[in-house]
Amino acid sequence: MNVGLTTPILPASEAAVAAAARCLADGGLVGFPTETVYGLGADATNPAAIARLYRAKGRPSFNPLIAHVGDLEAARLIGRFDARATALAEAFWPGPLTLVLRRTRDCAVADLATAGLDTIAIRVPAHPLARDILRAFAGPVVAPSANLSGHVSPTTAAHVQSDLAGRIDLIVDGGAVAVGVESTIVGCFEAPMLLRPGGLPRGEIERVLGRALPRPPDEAGHDTGQPLAPGMLASHYAPRTPVRLEAVGVDAGEALLAFGDGVVPGVDATTATMNLSAQGDLNEAAANLFGYLRALDLTGARAIAVMPIPHHGLGEAINDRLRRAAMGRE
Ligand code: TXA
Ligand code: MG
Repeated sequence: MNVGLTTPILPASEAAVAAAARCLADGGLVGFPTETVYGLGADATNPAAIARLYRAKGRPSFNPLIAHVGDLEAARLIGRFDARATALAEAFWPGPLTLVLRRTRDCAVADLATAGLDTIAIRVPAHPLARDILRAFAGPVVAPSANLSGHVSPTTAAHVQSDLAGRIDLIVDGGAVAVGVESTIVGCFEAPMLLRPGGLPRGEIERVLGRALPRPPDEAGHDTGQPLAPGMLASHYAPRTPVRLEAVGVDAGEALLAFGDGVVPGVDATTATMNLSAQGDLNEAAANLFGYLRALDLTGARAIAVMPIPHHGLGEAINDRLRRAAMGRE
């Protein structure tokens, strides 16, 4: 197990996949790419590995983890699928959708990973390296985003290294991720609910369901008293620098996170400017979001001013993460 101050990074290869699977089987912690963000994987059936994972991230252990599996068949071993859940899985897996379902009776995932809930979050990632690692490991892998708790999610192996070097055993480098925001989380109970907007736009899910996908009435669960998506703690995505939303101008000493080709007054006085998508493409903006927030956080700006982002498509997830970033850290 790694005890040094650094963590080895292996470029994508068959050998890296085999090393990752071996490491997981030994109770180790592996940073690996998914199409949404980099995940920090542990054997979902190994409570000691999961305890290490919570410690490495500095994550409150009441916050449950997503179990990643290779296919729908493997998912059925741990979660109970009704007709709607099956339809969503068949339409969108592998891909950036997480389903929260009732656990099966003989679900092998450790209670520590699900924070004692009788539900479980399950996802089949689409990234080829994630799929290869899951196939080689041949069991469920819990994987939160591979960042320190409270930080923005990592979209490159270097982000993982900068947060978790020396705290985890291995990082597999698959380059920059394609989607850039975490998976969309849908709770599939009596009526499906959008627990977290994410990399799969709400409209695509509503088209398959043939109905609107409501947000939960508030963030408290009905019967358990547990938050429905507890990880949606307000301060989850905050950089250190204050974030100012809906900026129509830039003040002296601010950095600018721009969107589109519009010009805002004061742009000449910024310490730094990065444009999420000059063409106004929300997919491109999502892919750039966390990396640009991390980069602007390092410029020493007084604040990060963010131009308005439209709310449709991936804009819902982008605005959700920006709103959390603007609330600051706990
Ligand atoms: O795209 C993603 O989903 C990434 C990649 C690595 O797969 N993973 C990710 O995991 O974002 P994490 O741990 O950062 O976020 C998981 C979210 C948290 O908000 C957690 O509270 C929620 O899923 N969650 C997990 N199990 C749940 C459950 N049984 N009921 C409700 N929410 C749950
Ligand atoms: Mg996270």
